[in-house]
Amino acid sequence: MKEKIEFLYTINYPREEKNLCLMEIRTIFKLETEEKVILSDIEVEPLFSPFIKSRLEILYVKDNFEDVLKEIISSGLKSEEYKVEYIRMDKDNIAYEDRLNKVKQIGLNILGTFSMTNPKEIFGLTNYNGKWYFGICIKGDTKWPDRIKKPYSYSNSLEVRLARTLINLAIEADRTKKLIDPCCGVGTVIIEALSMGIDITGYEINRSVTNNANVNLEYYGYNKIVVNDDMHNIKDNFDSAILDIPYGLFSHITKEEQLGLIKKIREISKRLIMVSFEDLEGMILESNFKISDRCILSKGSFQRYIYICN
Ligand SMILES: C[S@@+](CC[C@H](N)C(=O)[O-])C[C@H]1O[C@@H](n2cnc3c(N)ncnc32)[C@H](O)[C@@H]1O
Repeated sequence: MKEKIEFLYTINYPREEKNLCLMEIRTIFKLETEEKVILSDIEVEPLFSPFIKSRLEILYVKDNFEDVLKEIISSGLKSEEYKVEYIRMDKDNIAYEDRLNKVKQIGLNILGTFSMTNPKEIFGLTNYNGKWYFGICIKGDTKWPDRIKKPYSYSNSLEVRLARTLINLAIEADRTKKLIDPCCGVGTVIIEALSMGIDITGYEINRSVTNNANVNLEYYGYNKIVVNDDMHNIKDNFDSAILDIPYGLFSHITKEEQLGLIKKIREISKRLIMVSFEDLEGMILESNFKISDRCILSKGSFQRYIYICN
């Protein structure tokens, strides 16, 4: 038995989301790195993150491929309806034929039935920093991008990718955390959190926006949990709040009212993940939160400020 399970994650991001991805890595893995491969004993579901492409639960790590194969044979590795894949790394220089041949050799030595089209288990092989890694591979989710097309979406709705990252910043790899989106709009964050099996509550002050959020929730098979009320009336306590702060054009909100929202969150939540279109650091500090991390996400002509506050 291994003392610790180690995982090898592959990461990727569009250039304009680099800051956001690195912030997510810092939060989840407690690592400062720009590497697109991460070795960690922290277990994260790849489908939680828009940036994690695959996770390999490492069974064997060896200096050469033959030793990996020997381990597979001597352990009598067994699986039903499995497939073996090669996980290609950024600077991987193993030739295609060679990769194919190694994957085949492994496939022939796992006991059980092989399934190319509908595997229940995927084994992965890769070469990273001169070592061979073999293990159980889980890939990132491919279904969540579908949720970009909700029945209701406004121009001020968050992007699905950003919503998922905000949730990761809020939960820090602990899916038992209790979250609140106190100004949830049409429910982008709520839907993503529910799809990740996370306990979340949503408040929205505008009646018609609340109705639209609940239509969105129902559309994806979730209960209509968004409460039509002012967030100042929230009585419960939470591990973390995700606040996409209401701003001028859409909500006709004053600076004092924005400050009031953050101060209210300070009373009901240990942690705050906040998104804004302008630098609101002063307001956060005035509300007695400390900023533990921040990043700026630049998209076209506008910028979004993302803060982690404790
Ligand atoms: C920037 S939008 C949120 C958009 C949301 N993240 C989405 O993806 O749809 C801010 C929302 O906060 C709501 N709001 C403003 N003041 C509020 C308050 N005091 N309590 C609850 N909701 C409020 C607004 O009606 C608006 O829908």
